[in-house]
Amino acid sequence: MSSTLMIRRILLAITGASAMPYAQALAEVLGAHPRVELHGIISPGGRLVLQHEGPPQEAITRHFAAVHEAHDLAAPPSSGSWMHHGMIICPCSMATLGALASGAGRNLVHRAADVTLKERRPLILVPRETPLAEIHLRNLLRLGRMGAVIMPPCPGFYHHPRTIEDLTRTFAGRVLDQLGLPHDLAPRWGEPELAPQEASC
Ligand SMILES: Cc1cc2nc3c(=O)[nH]c(=O)nc-3n(C[C@H](O)[C@H](O)[C@H](O)COP(=O)(O)O)c2cc1C
Repeated sequence: MSSTLMIRRILLAITGASAMPYAQALAEVLGAHPRVELHGIISPGGRLVLQHEGPPQEAITRHFAAVHEAHDLAAPPSSGSWMHHGMIICPCSMATLGALASGAGRNLVHRAADVTLKERRPLILVPRETPLAEIHLRNLLRLGRMGAVIMPPCPGFYHHPRTIEDLTRTFAGRVLDQLGLPHDLAPRWGEPELAPQEASC
């Protein structure tokens, strides 16, 4: 990591759930952020879902300073001695959620998240499934109680989004807020752009 005190190392893990536009927005925003060194992991499930819904993997990985292989349990994020300032799992599949809730460290995403929790560093989960079964709800509660921040990809509409990018970048801004990273990705409540719109009919 750069010796510059202000640089924050962030780890973005992408697992196999259907919300890749959010992962892409986070990779773009964090990769371009002047105070971030962005590292990435993509699980095999994540790679499969990317093949189905896009974007091409390269559109995401080019924003990473380093890509760590999900099968490599000796990669740097597997150790608490590898410093970072926060881990995001976006999207977080229900399979990964279950592995985290039970402490089963079968791949580098699971192990890195486990380490992040034990080191009391920020862990942000962006779970994607609907509807949710009881086991999903139990796992979310369990991880929330362990200190993970649970952020389902549910953007607000009071900023009058017009494109998918409006939605995904606004959501990415909320994630950056959790990490204490400055941004101007979306207007904030109370700012002039958010004046109520008149009904068009
Ligand atoms: C196209 C596609 C979409 C999927 N969407 C979801 C989803 O939205 N949520 C989910 O929990 N699993 C979803 N899955 C299933 C997971 O990818 C699967 O459970 C996988 O084992 C997850 O592994 P991982 O968590 O290690 O990436 C999807 C699978 C495919 C092929």
